[in-house]
Amino acid sequence: MKVLIVGSGGREHALAWKVAQSKKVEKVYGAPGNPGIAQIGECVDIKPTEVEKLADFAEREGIDLTIVGPEAPLVAGITDEFEKRGLKVFGPSKAAAQLEGSKAFAKEMMKKYGVPTAGFEVFDDPEKAKEYIRKVGAPIVVKADGLAAGKGVVVAQTVDEAIEAVDRIMVEKVFGEAGNRVVVEECLKGEEASYLVITDGERFVPLATAQDHKAVFDGDRGPNTGGMGAYSPAPVLSGEMEKEVQEKVIKPILKGMAEEGMPFKGILYAGLMITEEGPKVLEFNVRFGDPEAQAILRRLEDDLVDVALSAVEGRLVEELHWKPETSICVVLASKGYPGKYEKGKVITGIEEAEKVPTVAVFHAGTAVKDGKLVTNGGRVLNVTALGKDIVEARERVYEAVKRIHFDGMHYRTDIGLKAVKRLKG
Ligand code: AMP
Ligand code: GLY
Repeated sequence: MKVLIVGSGGREHALAWKVAQSKKVEKVYGAPGNPGIAQIGECVDIKPTEVEKLADFAEREGIDLTIVGPEAPLVAGITDEFEKRGLKVFGPSKAAAQLEGSKAFAKEMMKKYGVPTAGFEVFDDPEKAKEYIRKVGAPIVVKADGLAAGKGVVVAQTVDEAIEAVDRIMVEKVFGEAGNRVVVEECLKGEEASYLVITDGERFVPLATAQDHKAVFDGDRGPNTGGMGAYSPAPVLSGEMEKEVQEKVIKPILKGMAEEGMPFKGILYAGLMITEEGPKVLEFNVRFGDPEAQAILRRLEDDLVDVALSAVEGRLVEELHWKPETSICVVLASKGYPGKYEKGKVITGIEEAEKVPTVAVFHAGTAVKDGKLVTNGGRVLNVTALGKDIVEARERVYEAVKRIHFDGMHYRTDIGLKAVKRLKG
């Protein structure tokens, strides 16, 4: 089989790495891919949102399965275009992808189908949004309705900060059309967790649980990023809590999507806040998380191609099998990220890092220039490891991290510490 992975980040390298292990797979392609993917497959110079060009390529090359990493092509309708041409693609339709593509849509669906989430109002008019913010006070959360690469959310501690966010999103339009509307919502307190399931539109199977680390600095300080690290499993979601999430979140939303005539196929990702009142949804994503996928895929025993095809073909596998070990992923970022950063810094030490038992390094923002591997993005590399528990996984991953170098490299040193604290009680 030939499998195409759409996207160019660490998540996509992890997907390609996992797919390449399938005995059925003779070739993996990445569009546009990255230097890590190029080591195991072939990279094609097509952007993820060039949906028709991707479908042309898949037809021409005889691609048997396409797995879509990022949200933008899904929201742009890549699945509809591929399916129209009889091509197999793993990911939701354009209509179903609105769960991530429009926060207002997601909130209305949650309201209609009784999924617990923060109280909210939707505004098309900045003045009305500000009036509301002054009325209810801070802390309060302001979210751009559309896609903003994970940066469209402001958790405001003061009314002024929230009003400034409305101006930036709706008046200055820093995220373009994504800021035509805002969702203003109640600020929730608790521990965050990511819960991902794979679904064929009717049934679902959970993926292993994971926890992301969104803030750029240790101790969850500093601005939010796409994610600075993850580990799996996430004990915060163990046992009863996982059941509660399935009953209160996953089942009703999947039922709602089907009832609305847009059954959800692919990966549904619920970003949760585990509050004193139980789990509440912060957001839905319609794809694998990045860097959660890197941690989760390291533990998957099954053939990802079989699993994805079972969802695409509406005959979802009954269960998934996971390595009992704990996995961890630490993101190495460029100086300045998530703000402005420089590119082109020479990267060394990956081979040495991969000599640490169980370590695999996935590429995210890298490029090859004059025969050298250099930085080419904010999140540059993802170092992953397994361990018998989170303590051993952390030891291994940070030993590997020490062996890698590029100018201005920074990373969080506390990935997985919340789980260590739970372990130690
Ligand atoms: P989102 O993209 O909606 O998940 O928001 C990004 C991040 O903002 C989340 O991971 C949380 O850290 C934070 N956040 C979003 N909504 C809320 C909320 N209602 N209360 C507190 N924090 C939130
Ligand atoms: N790690 C968060 C996300 O993929 O949206």
